[in-house]
Amino acid sequence: MANASDYDDLVKSPPSTHLVGRRVVAFDAIDSTNKYALEQGGDGTVYVADRQTAGRGRLGRAWHSAPGLGLWFTVCLEGEDLGGLTFAAALALRDVLAGRCDPRVKWPNDVLVNGKKVSGILVERRRKRTALGIGLNVHHRPEDFPEEFREKAGSLDSEIGGEWNRAGVLRALLTHLDRSVMLLRSDGFEEIRSAWADALNLVGRRIRSGDRTGVVTALDGLGAIVLEVPGGGRHRIRNGEITLLDGE
Ligand code: BTN
Repeated sequence: MANASDYDDLVKSPPSTHLVGRRVVAFDAIDSTNKYALEQGGDGTVYVADRQTAGRGRLGRAWHSAPGLGLWFTVCLEGEDLGGLTFAAALALRDVLAGRCDPRVKWPNDVLVNGKKVSGILVERRRKRTALGIGLNVHHRPEDFPEEFREKAGSLDSEIGGEWNRAGVLRALLTHLDRSVMLLRSDGFEEIRSAWADALNLVGRRIRSGDRTGVVTALDGLGAIVLEVPGGGRHRIRNGEITLLDGE
């Protein structure tokens, strides 16, 4: 049975990064690693749980975090609010998975493999702490997802196959995230934002967002979509779901 002991090596010998993951704390079960990081976290410390009983998703949704199946973790950062963390996280996931598949970043910050969402990112802030939470579905079979997500969600096992080791993936992600956080702390926001915008490949595409359809003309500095609708009107889309109308 998988549990937090899967992360023992990482806890004992964390990666030799500048900040992110120099300390790793593993739980068998916790309500939410993001909640814990916001309440008790230290700068750069990573909280990983085998299971979350109240995992949090975007837009106030719950994040299904069953034991042994996924990589559920949060990087705590202290100090000023760093823009660009969600972009950096999506790129880190893409780059770590890219050796074994062709992952895509989907606006705003999902990572898809074969069109299925394998990962979600949630950044939360409270007082001087930021929690960068990442959920990555690793060992799920389709039937392990709640029925309402089965069509859209996937895991590394189900979409890519082969052997996946959660601690190994986490170690690789922490090394990438460390580089990005260092870059963001030294004025590298635009570099990361533009790499993320390139990865999305959205400009010029026809999309639907709610009851609006139009063409994406730009992504603004905060990552919002600038949508031009028929007749010439412009709208900014900051959150929610979009559908590509012109294929992959
Ligand atoms: C999404 O809705 O796409 C974002 C999901 C983020 C889930 C992760 S799992 C680890 C961390 N702890 C939480 O409670 N949520 C994030």
